[in-house]
Amino acid sequence: MARVTILDKTFETSYPESQITQAVAKVADAINADLDGRDPLFLCVLNGAFMFAADLMKRVSIPSKISFVKFASYSGTQSTGVIKQLIGLNEDLTGRTVVIIEDIVDTGITIENLVKQCKEKGAADVRVATMLFKPGNCKTPTKPDYVGLEIPNDFIVGYGLDYDGYGRNIPEILTLVQ
Ligand code: IMP
Ligand code: MG
Repeated sequence: MARVTILDKTFETSYPESQITQAVAKVADAINADLDGRDPLFLCVLNGAFMFAADLMKRVSIPSKISFVKFASYSGTQSTGVIKQLIGLNEDLTGRTVVIIEDIVDTGITIENLVKQCKEKGAADVRVATMLFKPGNCKTPTKPDYVGLEIPNDFIVGYGLDYDGYGRNIPEILTLVQ
């Protein structure tokens, strides 16, 4: 895939499928090595992380469970730093090792919020696995523990990430052409 137009914007391939596959395998290997015997609970943050979670979990070989969570969205007036309500979490986290699966960590506010909520619910160890990390934009002390690819501060789509709802199904990662 070379150039793709989504709505009014043009995107260009930055990371082809082969590179994504390698990055996912690296994350899975690290998790398999670190968390063997810990019976971790993976929490896939919907919508964006669905594709990374599916590929990652196929390579996780240690006994574990997966669940899916989402933030209730408040349309329009969501300002940064506001604690958003987590929905879909039915598991008892008491004493558990939790691995949050995210598509991207940008400012870090989403994961900071989620890690805090998991700890408040009694999780003993909370880690974050993200396909993409924009270190240049991250404003929080909470950093992801497992990172597929570190990327510059550009807007991207594909591999679960969207532009206005479109592009999540693209199997590669594309960057906005300025
Ligand atoms: P945060 O800034 O780390 O809290 O990230 C919040 C959310 O912004 C992510 O989970 C994504 O849904 C979205 N996001 C951040 N950067 C991008 C991007 O480049 N493309 C598409 N969505 C993004
Ligand atoms: Mg997301």
